Amino acid sequence: MQEYYKESLQDPIFNIIGLAAKELSLDCYVIGGFVRDFFLKRSTAKDIDIVAIGSGIALAKKVAEMLPNQPKVSVFKNFGTAMLKHNGIELEFVGARKESYNRDSRKPIIENGTLKDDQKRRDFTINALALSLNETDFGKLLDPFDGIKDLDNKLIKTPLEPGITYSDDPLRMMRAIRFATQLNFEIQTNSLLAITDNKERMAIVSKERIIDELHKIIGSAKPSMGFQLLHETGLLHLILPELTALEGIEEIEGQKHKDNFWHTLEVVDNIALHTDDIWLRWAALLHDIGKAPTKRFDKKIGWTFHAHEFVGSKMVYKLFKRLRMPLNEHMKFVQKMVLMSSRPVVLSQNNVTDSAVRRLVFDAGDYVDDLMTLCEADITTKNPKKQKKYKNNFKIVRQKIIEVEERDHVRNFQPPITGEEIMKTFNLKPSKEIGILKDAIKEAILEGEIPNEYDPALIFMMKKGKKMGLTVSNQIT
Ligand code: CTP
Repeated sequence: MQEYYKESLQDPIFNIIGLAAKELSLDCYVIGGFVRDFFLKRSTAKDIDIVAIGSGIALAKKVAEMLPNQPKVSVFKNFGTAMLKHNGIELEFVGARKESYNRDSRKPIIENGTLKDDQKRRDFTINALALSLNETDFGKLLDPFDGIKDLDNKLIKTPLEPGITYSDDPLRMMRAIRFATQLNFEIQTNSLLAITDNKERMAIVSKERIIDELHKIIGSAKPSMGFQLLHETGLLHLILPELTALEGIEEIEGQKHKDNFWHTLEVVDNIALHTDDIWLRWAALLHDIGKAPTKRFDKKIGWTFHAHEFVGSKMVYKLFKRLRMPLNEHMKFVQKMVLMSSRPVVLSQNNVTDSAVRRLVFDAGDYVDDLMTLCEADITTKNPKKQKKYKNNFKIVRQKIIEVEERDHVRNFQPPITGEEIMKTFNLKPSKEIGILKDAIKEAILEGEIPNEYDPALIFMMKKGKKMGLTVSNQIT
């Protein structure tokens, strides 16, 4: 049966590409993510892949010539590919190839091939679907590896024997897990086994590409699905050993601690329901990593993870560095979240005082809402009574934050009295007394002794200065 899907090719660009191919007397097809997403009714990809039976570079140049604005064509000669941008969409052109790969790098050795040769060398059957752009059969589906069936069965399957597909390009192991997570598909059993067998080959994949896939897994609706698969295949241990180190429950003298690995995955799924911020999700993933190196058993108090937040925040830096993630404000944000991850918990367990809330807002600054979101996601108890109690406590903390904020403005705290004014008042040169006074004013505000306002702060400073033996300058009195 021949099936046509012209309705997916309504954008005039597809006709232009077909005409350009006709002028060059070659056939061409749209392939990959665009076709897959059309059948999945997902919002269409930002890039469109075109395969030419002949030179993809020549086709790209011809298309550019025919477009009114004649866009620039970027040519990647080594890969035999070319790209141009049209209406904000990246059009990628490649010549159909029979590929075999160099074992030590991801660079393919390229030979010209038929459409089927090209489809066979792609990662998954669902990504090997092609639609014709040729005049004679415009819109015809070419699906020699039953990709449509796998879409229906929600299955990630390789066109070739999986060992070959993954060995050709080991990044595909991450892609398999990423697609399974994003699309809620299953990975075919022999494919999963092949990933386990080939996991060490991830070593030749650049960290940046690995992180791109990890970001997409973390950005999915249920990230734990991807992390479970990464764990099951052994990839997680190679990429994020800090996480797998959290797995397991130990028991000494009848006392157990929770399995912090599976707990962490629950926290990530929880937070995914409340935020799309990828860095806050990273913070959830890493919030407990300090627990593995700090775990101790104390005969009196049982299991402890003393200072795990501090140790964890230091580990964040090393982890980001190792994975070539940006060491910028995103990393600092994750560090801060990890460092402060227990603060609201401690608050919610006791009677919440205004001064404790003020300190929390002062320390967390603009991140206080994110911190609360993280801590709420951290509630994974299966005891409904406790679950309700903790959630309710956090509600109270959130309400207090609003009240304290309205009254005291300690978020991104600006001292009501500047160092310069302190120097002038007491006729001081730069010295440690200024720091002491500034700190005392800040502490008095946080403790609620004085409001965060100029006049009360001035009176407080005068008194404190006198106590310190400082004299008020003549010009002031
Ligand atoms: N592809 C492949 N092996 C890879 C990467 C890509 O075979 N390691 C092929 C697949 O056919 C894929 C197409 O190239 O569909 C385009 O790749 P890419 O743009 O990375 O992914 P998409 O499938 O478009 O999906 P997404 O946009 O979600 O990344």
